[in-house]
Amino acid sequence: MTTDTTTKDTAPGAPAPGTTILDARGVTMRFGGLTAVNGVDLTVNSGEIVGLIGPNGAGKTTFFNCLTGLYIPTEGEVRYKDRVLPAKSFKVTAAGIARTFQNIRLFANMTVLENVLVGRHTRTKEGFWSAVLRGPGFHRAEKASRERALELLEFVGLAAKADHLARNLPYGEQRKLEIARALASEPGLLLLDEPTAGMNPQETRATEELVFAIRDKGIAVLVIEHDMRFIFNLCDRVAVLVQGEKLVEGDSATVQGDERVVAAYLGEPLADDPGAAEAAEVEAAEAAQAQAAEATGAAETAEADTTTDTAAGKENDR
Ligand SMILES: Nc1ncnc2c1ncn2[C@@H]1O[C@H](COP(=O)(O)OP(=O)(O)O)[C@@H](O)[C@H]1O
Ligand SMILES: [Mg+2]
Repeated sequence: MTTDTTTKDTAPGAPAPGTTILDARGVTMRFGGLTAVNGVDLTVNSGEIVGLIGPNGAGKTTFFNCLTGLYIPTEGEVRYKDRVLPAKSFKVTAAGIARTFQNIRLFANMTVLENVLVGRHTRTKEGFWSAVLRGPGFHRAEKASRERALELLEFVGLAAKADHLARNLPYGEQRKLEIARALASEPGLLLLDEPTAGMNPQETRATEELVFAIRDKGIAVLVIEHDMRFIFNLCDRVAVLVQGEKLVEGDSATVQGDERVVAAYLGEPLADDPGAAEAAEVEAAEAAQAQAAEATGAAETAEADTTTDTAAGKENDR
């Protein structure tokens, strides 16, 4: 794995950087009376890492499901490399879009290697009779698949655990295995749904480097994540989804500086800066304390009162 983003080990046949590969237009998804996603436009260009953020229930996962054939959008259209997406998820994978899931989906009782081999099935040409007769073509294809799977395990840092059962991996490594399995379908676009959920800061850093390395292989990435540091470090572009609608889209600085985004995450902005109000309160209390100390010489009593007042002030800000 490399963090050097200047040397591009681009896959053969990858589109030129900057070409739009994913083009979602006016995507709407309704469940009965609930509109989970409402008229969302989003593009991903080759060579890009795009972030999708928003509060819980904003419709991020539903939007991913519309991009992977799991849901057929109620309205709108999704194109991948100029073709309308097929309506079945395995066909979408074959077309070149792979994903991981917010709730990890692995074959718990299969080994790590077997899980990656499952991810290769859309790329193996050997058919049913070849598998039954187990001729030379089958064995060649099987060997090549194993080699590629091991290469991918090496890439995500799990080669040493190839023979372990998936269910025995710690949580962070299960997420890595999901990524390796998604990569096994040789995608042009990888969708990651909360890849660092449940990870410690070191694992999150490693995942950040892994995503850069994936991009450097010529695979575009669209990532949902709640960890803002991760998103703003990683993404060329970030779209913010709130109540099913795209609120803001831009580079990290633009999105971070947008008051609407802050408001969407924190609720309505307060009229005054709460930090300033608290500081003023502490200042006033300190002045009162100094005054009281001067007048009576009972500094300790005043100090105790001040602590109580400040704590009460904080309570109100929550
Ligand atoms: N299959 C479904 N049937 C009904 N409602 C759903 C379904 N999937 C998601 N929703 C609803 O759609 C909204 C968006 O959910 P989701 O896409 O999971 O949000 P996010 O991933 O941003 O947290 C929520 O109100 C959720 O309850
Ligand atoms: Mg979600």
